[in-house]
Amino acid sequence: MNMRFEPARGLSGKLRAPADKSISHRAAIIGAMASEPVRIEGYLHAEDTSSTLDAIQALGALVEVRSDEVVVRGTGLREARAPDGPIDVGNAGTLMRLLPGWLAAQEGSSFTLDGDDSIRRRPVDRIVEPLSLMGAKLEARDGRLPPLTVHGARLRAISYELAVASAQVKSCVLLAALAADGATTIGEPSRSRDHTERMLLRAGVGIHRNGRHVTVVNADELLLDGVRVPGDVSSAAFLVTAGMLVPGSRLLIEDVGVNWTRSGFLRIVRRMQGILLGDLEDETGELQPEEPVSDLDVAHGALDGTVVEPEEVPLAIDELPLVALLGCFAEGETVVRGAQELRVKESDRIAGVVDGLRGLGADIEATEDGFAVRGTGGLRGGSIDAQGDHRLAMLGAVAGLASREGVEVVGMEAAAVSYPGFVEDLRSLVS
Ligand code: S3P
Repeated sequence: MNMRFEPARGLSGKLRAPADKSISHRAAIIGAMASEPVRIEGYLHAEDTSSTLDAIQALGALVEVRSDEVVVRGTGLREARAPDGPIDVGNAGTLMRLLPGWLAAQEGSSFTLDGDDSIRRRPVDRIVEPLSLMGAKLEARDGRLPPLTVHGARLRAISYELAVASAQVKSCVLLAALAADGATTIGEPSRSRDHTERMLLRAGVGIHRNGRHVTVVNADELLLDGVRVPGDVSSAAFLVTAGMLVPGSRLLIEDVGVNWTRSGFLRIVRRMQGILLGDLEDETGELQPEEPVSDLDVAHGALDGTVVEPEEVPLAIDELPLVALLGCFAEGETVVRGAQELRVKESDRIAGVVDGLRGLGADIEATEDGFAVRGTGGLRGGSIDAQGDHRLAMLGAVAGLASREGVEVVGMEAAAVSYPGFVEDLRSLVS
């Protein structure tokens, strides 16, 4: 579906960001692993997170969708049922990487996970390695791509250093570790989002962090009263960017999750001198049980270019395309380094962002591990292909509102993966 976004004269109003996708996936999976029913308030109803509800039902969990909450009646840590056919994860990389952590502990049962064309291009060897070290047997196409088959086993606790900072891989190992025979320690090259750790802490698990290492003790059962899903900062980031770039804008985005490990983008825009009020979480020493939220008050204003360094990348990974767009309007150069992971997202997001924005008039070039943009104070407009990637589709829409001539987005339907109401929300803000 092609959709045109005309230059806007100013965005105003307030709205609530859609529910957090990462936390919704985790709530459903951890709910399925729990011994007592888990009530999830504000679950995200989007394509990716519907795949997760379907997957846990195929594994024996009961799911009741009510008007304002989803109730998951889990099977317990070691009682997942082997379904008749493959589990379809659709487009959801987080489901593809997290679920095998639980499945690896189902002794004597086998499970196959598969998904769409984009999923079939995304590496799973990064979870095959640690789960194999723990004692499970896994088979991936060419040893590294989906479909992925997991043969559950009695698992050993391990100490494991992640090669890349990936919250998905870390979470996979954490979930497997719950059913292992002792305490497992995972090290990451730099901090990544810690929603799984916080939720496990709330579920009564012995888990603590020491710098870049997290240690989790095996558990008999998980008991999680309920989860309240905050607004998704990654989705809100599109609205924040629109508010910053369209002259005359002033927006209030309510109830946004501002966990320090997720709010790197908000810190980057503040460094660019963007006008953003909100109570962001500070970096914390101890692992926190709660997910902090804040309203974000955004206004249009002049921006400075900035450099995003490698250790900041995992804290803003899904928002880096928006840093490129902001860079087009900023004074001076904006550079992102150490972001080679962008090449294995829903699309090659370095190529998609660079080619896409260049096609709209940006002065941008790709590097091996990121991109460099020279701000020209604006963007002409034109046409951009979302390539089936929700974040590229939404990037194109925001670019259109801020451009001189408007933008046609090819494949706007991709936004439904994470933010089905995105176009309606944008329209409600355009005066
Ligand atoms: C996610 C982690 C990130 C992110 C993805 C969601 C998660 O992926 O890009 O959209 O929910 O854990 P990686 O862990 O592979 O960096």
